[in-house]
Amino acid sequence: MAVEDRIIVPLDVPTEADAIALVEQLPQVTFWKVGLELFVSTGPEILHTLKSRNKRIFLDLKFHDIPNTVAGAIRKAASYGVDLITIHGTAGRTALKAANAAALEGSEAAGCPPPKLIAITILTSLTSRDLAFDLKIPVELPEYALQMALLAQESGLSGAVCSPQEASQLRQVCGDDFLLVCPGVRPSWSQTGDQKRTMTPAEAIKAGADYLVIGRPITAATDPVAAWERIGDELTAAGV
Ligand code: C5P
Repeated sequence: MAVEDRIIVPLDVPTEADAIALVEQLPQVTFWKVGLELFVSTGPEILHTLKSRNKRIFLDLKFHDIPNTVAGAIRKAASYGVDLITIHGTAGRTALKAANAAALEGSEAAGCPPPKLIAITILTSLTSRDLAFDLKIPVELPEYALQMALLAQESGLSGAVCSPQEASQLRQVCGDDFLLVCPGVRPSWSQTGDQKRTMTPAEAIKAGADYLVIGRPITAATDPVAAWERIGDELTAAGV
């Protein structure tokens, strides 16, 4: 796979018109992420639009509910022919297993390939301090991310979303077949914004990430195409 095909760009925009404008501005991007803001605005329509343009889709709705409810939502989401779907690891083992079964049922009933269900380990905007003081979780952040990934793997999920800083440990423990998708990626020349645990694209891939989610460094750049190309050039120069 070309290294550019391992970059997923989020459509973090409020309307379908904004999303289509971004997709048209960056025809080089083959993998787009649809998150909560856009999906709440457009519903599944945006997924049909992206499919009709032969784009791969990461449906990042970060499901988190009781087993029966997540299963119902994921069964439907899987029928749209999306490639990746997220669920919070903290939904628990029973919900993760139910979600996995529902993803297979939904895609099979719709006659499309099954999506890969991946677990959110811990949001990349959270710090150790948030974990300890606000969430009252008495383990170190890397240990927590690892436990969430292992729970996902034991529950039959295809992979996890993690910060690039946790990628090498997760890769080592979960093995080569476990998909690692990393947001919190920042080229050295971009602003970190609210992402706390970042690495550059080349560092993240070297650490074991399969896919990088890179948003604002590209979408908020004065020239998004130039930013995209610069990232591709830097990855090639780094030999990844
Ligand atoms: O603009 P930026 O590169 O920070 O965008 C990162 C994207 O990845 C956002 O759409 C965000 O919702 C998503 N994401 C994240 N952390 C996670 C899971 C998803 O930042 N743990």
